[in-house]
Amino acid sequence: MKKHILIVPGDGIGQEVTAVGKKVLDKIAAKFGHEFTYDSALIGHVAIEATGNPLPEETLQKMKSSDAVLFGAVGHPKYDNDPTAKVRPEQGLLKMRKELGLYANLRPIKLFDELLSASSIKPEILKGADILFFRELTGDIYFGEKGRKNNGDTAFDMAEYSRYEVERIARKAFEAAMTRKKKLCSVDKANVLETSRLWREVVQKVALEYPEVEVEHQFVDATAMLLIKDPCRFDVVVTANLFGDILTDEASQIAGSMGMLASASIGDGTGVYEPIHGSAHDITGKGVANPLASILSAALLLDISFGLKAESDALINAVDKVLKAGFRTRDIADSQTASNMVLGTEAMGEQVLNNI
Ligand code: NAD
Ligand code: IPM
Ligand code: MN
Repeated sequence: MKKHILIVPGDGIGQEVTAVGKKVLDKIAAKFGHEFTYDSALIGHVAIEATGNPLPEETLQKMKSSDAVLFGAVGHPKYDNDPTAKVRPEQGLLKMRKELGLYANLRPIKLFDELLSASSIKPEILKGADILFFRELTGDIYFGEKGRKNNGDTAFDMAEYSRYEVERIARKAFEAAMTRKKKLCSVDKANVLETSRLWREVVQKVALEYPEVEVEHQFVDATAMLLIKDPCRFDVVVTANLFGDILTDEASQIAGSMGMLASASIGDGTGVYEPIHGSAHDITGKGVANPLASILSAALLLDISFGLKAESDALINAVDKVLKAGFRTRDIADSQTASNMVLGTEAMGEQVLNNI
C-alpha cells in the first residue's frame, strides 16, 4: 500500500515522541511491504516563531493533502504564564480540528496488564479496565463566542451545540459500542446546562436505533468519581468537548500514565493521530518522555485511516512485549522496577522497534 503521512511534531516533547512514532511506522512499512512517504509541517509555538501564525496555511494544505497526520503536541510556558497573549500555540490545534472537521476524538483507555501496579488505583479495581471515549471535538465552549465586557472586567465563553453535532458523535459512539460490549454511557450536566439537555435528548433519540446497546446517562461530576471507583463498569463513553478533555486526563491514570494514552481525531477528511498529553514543559529536552502514546497513536492511524489491522496489532503487540519484558519509562516505573529497566524516550522506541 502507498500512503503519504504528514508528521506534525509541534512543541516540547511533541518533537521527541513523534520522532519515535515515525520510526515505528517506517519499520511497519518495511516489514509488511508498504510504501509510506513523509513530509513534516509546523504548528504551535514553533510555527509562531517561524511565521507568526500557530497554524500556517502551508501546514493546513499539507494536512488536507495527506493520507493521515501523526501529531505531537503544542504549547509553551511563555503563553501559559501570559494570559494576555493574543496569539497562542493552542489556537493552531483548535483551528486544525475545526478546519479538518475532526469532530470525533477517540481516546481508548486500555490498561496493559503489566502496568497494573503503575497506577495509583488498586489493581483489583483496575484489572480488565477497557474504555473507549468519544470526545466531541469541534463544538462546545471551545468554539462558541468568547470575549470581555464591562471594560474587560467580565469575561464570557459561550457553550453551544446543535442537534446535528450531537447526533453525529452519538452515532459514531453507538456504532463502536455495537462492536464492543454493547454498553454506552453518555456523560453530560443535564441537571444544569441547556446544551446538556439537548445532548441527552438527542442521545436518547439515537439510542432507539440501537436497541441492543445498553445505555446509561451520567452527570459529569458523578462520572469523574465512578471512573476511579469502578473503571470496569464502563465500555464506550460519549461526551462533550470540555468534559471529554478533563475526564480523559483523569482516565489516563487507569492506564498508568498520560504517556500511555493515544487518540484518533476523525471526521470527513484526513485523520489526525496524537497522544492526549501536551508538550510537557517540565520534561522537555530531558529525553525521558514516554513515546508509547505516540506509538499507539501510530497504531490507531494504521487501523483507522489505512485499514491495516494486522499492522496495527503488530505495533500494539510489540508494546505489550516490551512491557512484559519489564522495560519502563520513568512515568510508568514503580518501586519494583530495577533502575537498568527504566529507559529514556529513544531507548524505549528502540525496544519497540526490535519487537515489531
Ligand atoms: P501535559 O500533558 O503536557 O503534562 C502533564 C503531566 O504529564 C506533566 O507532568 C508531564 O511531564 C506528564 N506527561 C505528559 N506526557 C508525558 C509523557 N509522554 N511521558 C511522561 N510524562 C508525561 O499537560 P500540561 O502540563 O497541563 O500542559 C503543558 C502544555 O501542553 C500547555 O501549554 C498546554 O496548553 C499544552 N497541551 C497541549 C496538548 C495538545 O497539544 N494536544 C494537550 C494538553 C496540553
Ligand atoms: C487536548 C488539549 C487541548 C484541548 C488544548 C491544548 C487546546 O488539552 O488535546 O486534550 O483542550 O483539547
Ligand atoms: Mn487535554
